[in-house]
Amino acid sequence: PEVVAIVPAAGVGKRMRADLPKQYLTIEDKTLLEHTVHYLLEHPSINKVVIAIGEEDGYFHSTSLGSDKRIVVTTGGKERADSVLAGLRVTNAEWVMVHDAARPCVRHEDIDVLIAEAISHTHGAILACPVRDTMKRGTGDNKIETTVCREQLWHALTPQMFKREQLLNALETALDKSLAVTDEASAIELAGGAPKLVSGHADNIKVTQPEDLALAAFFLAQRNSGQ
Ligand code: CTP
Ligand code: MG
Repeated sequence: PEVVAIVPAAGVGKRMRADLPKQYLTIEDKTLLEHTVHYLLEHPSINKVVIAIGEEDGYFHSTSLGSDKRIVVTTGGKERADSVLAGLRVTNAEWVMVHDAARPCVRHEDIDVLIAEAISHTHGAILACPVRDTMKRGTGDNKIETTVCREQLWHALTPQMFKREQLLNALETALDKSLAVTDEASAIELAGGAPKLVSGHADNIKVTQPEDLALAAFFLAQRNSGQ
C-alpha cells in the first residue's frame, strides 16, 4: 500500500549537547534530517513525508527539503507524541509510518518487512531488535535487585507503522489521560492493542549522544555501499 511517513523533528537534542538540534548536524554535507527523509522517499511505498519541526526552528529553511513537493511541514509540540499527533493531523492517508528524524541508518529491507507485517496484523507493527546484554533491575540506590530474563526483551526502534485512524485515536486518548507515550506502540498498547515486533538491523540507531554521530556516519556509509 501507499504509506505516508511522519517524521518527528521538533526536538532540541539536549543529550547531544551540540550548538544546534541534532537533526541538523551533518554527515557528508547533508543534515541527518535530509539523510532520513531522502532515504524514506526513495522507498517505493513512500511518496509523501510529513515533517514536524519546532516552533522556533531556525534551520529547516536552509535545508533542501522545503522546496520538495512530496514533503509537508507542520509545527511539532512539547513532547514527541505531540509532534507525531500534529503530523497525523495534516494527512488523511490510510497507512502511516512514524520514523525519528534522528535515525538516518534505517534500511529499505527492514521497511519492506515492517510494511508486510503491519498490514497483516490488526494492531500495526514496529521495528525492534532483541536485547543483547544481560539485563538487571536495580534498586533506588543502584544495587541489583534481580536479573531480568532477556529472552523476551526488545529495543523499540522506528519506523512504527499503523492505520492512521487507529494511531490518531490511541494517541489522542493517551494524551487526554496524560499517560506517558514514548513511542507510537505504547499508545496502541494502552488502548489494549498488541503491535507486532519485527526484528530489524541493530545499526538503525537513534543519534542521541555525541559519540553516536561517528557511528551513524559509519553505518550510513556501509548501508549506502550495499553492505
Ligand atoms: N521530537 C519531536 N518533538 C519533541 C521531542 C522530540 O519531534 N517534542 C523528535 C526528535 O526531533 C527526534 C525524535 O523525536 O527526531 C526522537 O526523540 P529524541 O531522540 O529524544 O530527540 P530529542 O528530544 O531532540 O533529544 P533529547 O531527548 O536528548 O533532548
Ligand atoms: Mg527527547
